[in-house]
Amino acid sequence: MTTSRTISFTLNGEPASATVAPHQNLVELLAQLGLGGARESCAQGLCGCCTAIVDGRAVSGCLFLAVFADGARLETVEGLADGTQLDPIQEAFIETGAFQCGFCTPGFILMTRQLLEENPAPGEDDIRHYLSGNLCRCAAYPQIIEAVQLAARKRTRSVTPGHRPPTAAVLSDEERRREASATRSEGARGP
Ligand code: FES
Ligand code: FES
Repeated sequence: MTTSRTISFTLNGEPASATVAPHQNLVELLAQLGLGGARESCAQGLCGCCTAIVDGRAVSGCLFLAVFADGARLETVEGLADGTQLDPIQEAFIETGAFQCGFCTPGFILMTRQLLEENPAPGEDDIRHYLSGNLCRCAAYPQIIEAVQLAARKRTRSVTPGHRPPTAAVLSDEERRREASATRSEGARGP
């Protein structure tokens, strides 16, 4: 006989708990907690739409049993923004138009953060390789690569002493065009 179990964890920095069934996966747990950024699509670990971060490592939420989140540190796309201030990666995806339907976007954004934590200035091949486990059915790959390159520049500037990081709120339309143009000139090409 299977029984539900109450687990405790931190979710985007806040303590949380939930009662989960043995068969429940992480996507279902997050949905139960009102978070819809991780979406189940293939349910086979192939598309990356269900990506979440568990103890600093990206996992496929469709294959990760919720009970294993007991005592873990969970991070989701909902935890990236600081109030109304978007994370630079989120800004970059918006400014480059790196999505159409947006279904895959949370997974790409989380994997981009993982990539930039490991490699703050990835080349195009690095980006393609690191994000190869994430699928975009709208085929927004050229813009996604632009977004990752732009996010890398934003993050680099934000840690430069004396530099005031740009935000979506303070960038003018002309500045955004210059940013996107600079990214394209670095050689992003189609898939
Ligand atoms: S839904 Fe989990 S990898 Fe596709
Ligand atoms: S933007 Fe539609 S699946 Fe990627």
